[in-house]
Formats: sequence, C-alpha cells, structure tokens
Amino acid sequence: PMRKTLIVGNWKMNKTISQAEELLQRLLQRIDSRCPAEVVVAPPFTILAAARAQLCDTVIGLAAQNVAAEDMGAFTGEVSAPMLIEAGCGWVIIGHSERRHQFGEPDALINRKVKNALEHGLKVILCVGETDAERDAEQTEHVVHLQLTEGLNGVTPAAAAHVVVAYEPVWAIGTGQTATPAQAQEVHGLIRRWIGELYGPDTAQAMRVLYGGSVTPDNSHSLLGQPDIDGALVGGASLDVDLFCAIIGSAE
Ligand code: G3H
Repeated sequence: PMRKTLIVGNWKMNKTISQAEELLQRLLQRIDSRCPAEVVVAPPFTILAAARAQLCDTVIGLAAQNVAAEDMGAFTGEVSAPMLIEAGCGWVIIGHSERRHQFGEPDALINRKVKNALEHGLKVILCVGETDAERDAEQTEHVVHLQLTEGLNGVTPAAAAHVVVAYEPVWAIGTGQTATPAQAQEVHGLIRRWIGELYGPDTAQAMRVLYGGSVTPDNSHSLLGQPDIDGALVGGASLDVDLFCAIIGSAE
C-alpha cells in the first residue's frame, strides 16, 4: 500500500515523567522496525525532553499536542515550533477538538499554527470533526470541509506532503461511542476528495487520513480495514501499553 498505516497515541493531560518513562520502556520492548505501522506518541510538554531521550534512535516518533502560532515573545503559557524541535519533536497535533471547543481555538488561529509549524519542518496532524449537534443538523460535511480548507489555507502542495489529517467526530471522543466503519469511511472519502480538489490526485492518494474517537482493539481492525482510513489517533487506549500495541497490531 502506498500509505503506511500511522498510529498516534495522544496522551492528553496524563502521566508524570516517571510514569511516561515506564510506559515508553514497555512500548519499546514491543515496537521495532518489524512493526507494520508507523507509531508516534504525543505526551504533554513537560515529558517531551525525557521521551526524546528514550525514543531517539528508535522507530517511535514524538509529537507535541499543541504549538503556538508565533516563534517567540510575550505569549505567556505558549510553546513555539522551534522550542518543540529543540525538545526533539518531529510532529505536532494541531486543532484537536479539545483545543477548538474547550479553549476556543478558531480556524484562523489553527491555520496560522499549521503554516508556522510546517515552515519550521514539523509534520502536522490537523484534526477536524463535527459535534453531535452538527451531525444531527446534517452539517457534518459543511463543518469538516470548512475546518479542512481553513486549516490548510495557504499551505503549499509541497508543505501539504507533511500534513496528516485526523477525522475525529467530537461525539466519539472519550465517549466509547465510536463511529461505525461505514460512517467514518464516508467522511474519510470526502476528506480525500477535498484534498484532491485542493492539491490534485497525487497528494490526495498520498495523504494519510486518521480516524480518532474511542478507538480500541475491538474496533481498530474494522476501522483500519476501510479504504480511506490510514491510521488512528488514539486517546484513552494509548495510555495502556497492551491496548495500544493491540491497536498497532491490527494494522497488519
Ligand atoms: O486524540 C485522540 C482522540 O481525541 C480520541 O480520544 O480515544 O480517548 O476517544 P479517545
């Protein structure tokens, strides 16, 4: 397959440094170059440097969960792309629904973050997804299309090669209520079509589109079996090595 499966563990606001070191040590015992999927973990900022020390020269990549739109200056509480690169990140998650809905991040800000992160050489996981109310109001297509096009506004075709899209229906995040494989595939197919409209067929075929929202070993195989689902953005289950490895294993 031309798109290698990508499994990303988003730890959200969980784990101390010592807990993270134990988790990563156990993960590294089970994930090596024979792994059928590409694996990335996204710990909190405070853990990045310690995680980098454990993950360098391994096949597991390192992501941050957020990034500032600016490089430096008077932005209390923010962390910039150059800082993430120095800490050892190759990736950053941008526009997670928790950032959008709990911290009020609008598409224009997410777009500035995406462009700045790409300019600094970070690979970007751009998250999109509709809420329960938006799905009920049949706004799913409209909302996801807008988040995608606004998020990628001004991103060149060359830079788009370093973008992964994560479709996470908000109603499925942390709820145990997963989208059915058919529901997810429908939106993934649309996202790939819209990427094609923005960047042409080659980029559309090459770009990975991940599914996120209550992914577990029980549903990962059928989700990953869909033609336009190229991986998973895993929250809760990524905090448990056995569950996370079982999800990774279902990529085969
Ligand atoms: O980034 C991960 C998603 O928000 C999914 O979280 O697997 O806990 O539902 P979850």
